[in-house]
Amino acid sequence: MWGAMVEQDPSATGGDFDGAVHRPVLPLQVLRALGGDEPTALRGCVVDGTLGAGGHASLVLQHFPHVTLLGVDQDPQILEHAQRTLAPFGRRVRVRRGRMSQLDALLDREAPQRVVGVLFDLGASSLQLDNGARGFSFLADGPLDMRMDPERERTAADIVNGWDEQDLADLFFYEGGETRSRKIARAIVDSRRRATFQRTGALADLIERTVGGRSAKLHPATKVFQALRRAVNEEGDELLAGLAAAERWLVDGGRLAVISFHGGEDSEVKRFLVDGAQRGQWRALTKKPLGPERDELLYNRRSRSALLRFAERVRQSAPGAGA
Ligand SMILES: C[S@@+](CC[C@H](N)C(=O)[O-])C[C@H]1O[C@@H](n2cnc3c(N)ncnc32)[C@H](O)[C@@H]1O
Repeated sequence: MWGAMVEQDPSATGGDFDGAVHRPVLPLQVLRALGGDEPTALRGCVVDGTLGAGGHASLVLQHFPHVTLLGVDQDPQILEHAQRTLAPFGRRVRVRRGRMSQLDALLDREAPQRVVGVLFDLGASSLQLDNGARGFSFLADGPLDMRMDPERERTAADIVNGWDEQDLADLFFYEGGETRSRKIARAIVDSRRRATFQRTGALADLIERTVGGRSAKLHPATKVFQALRRAVNEEGDELLAGLAAAERWLVDGGRLAVISFHGGEDSEVKRFLVDGAQRGQWRALTKKPLGPERDELLYNRRSRSALLRFAERVRQSAPGAGA
């Protein structure tokens, strides 16, 4: 049953958006993580805190017939898309706009009866990345924006044009893993004295000129763009707040599943779960993060860097409960 449902349509409910498609990554692994192998036994509410196009949400609702879903995302444009994707599930779904850092307050308002699962599929959706007008892409020229929530004040242009050289270098190194961070930061600061950066294309070109051409695998601007996106959307703080909300809301035995696309982010989730196990609040169910199987790599390139960890909420202080 697990395989059959996804194999029929690997893109599942990812859907189109200005021609772009978002396919939910690690679909089978996420379903297993949330509900074990007994779909009809799971009863309660699953919170998808990074709803995106509703791809995972749709799979969850199809797979677990007694589950309702509360889907939350900070991006109003993406939510319109999710609403359409999830409409066939009627009253089993509620879709709300909000950030992971607002999840706790949002759940207070929505008061779901029994939260049996929480899913975070971190980072940006392909629908955001592939849309040049949103400013995430070094391939499609657009305004240097990168805000997932348009109500945030600070854009990527504000950081690139406003931060000093040392802060830019640290950002590119620590948040993007860019080892040529100093060279790139220096080139940005030199160049912006003549004209500030307003477009993704201008920044990508400068990085390419500074550190050399495109390698077969990775565009030279990839890591800087990732670091900027993480800073604009405060992704580190958002994750910690989301994990804390999951701890507060999950029932005993409820499952948390987190998909990261960044080693630092995965380490943060691991740290949270190790600490949670020591506090007797979580039982980690993955020692190492799970990645895609070979089949998925063939139809969804984005899955190649996906890392899934999942864990069970432990509410009784049972002796020996731990990772
Ligand atoms: C990778 S996509 C999720 C895709 C989704 N699982 C699917 O299958 O369609 C990540 C989504 O999370 C949202 N997001 C990222 N950080 C967020 C945050 N801190 N709070 C709320 N939503 C966030 C983004 O706007 C994006 O739509």
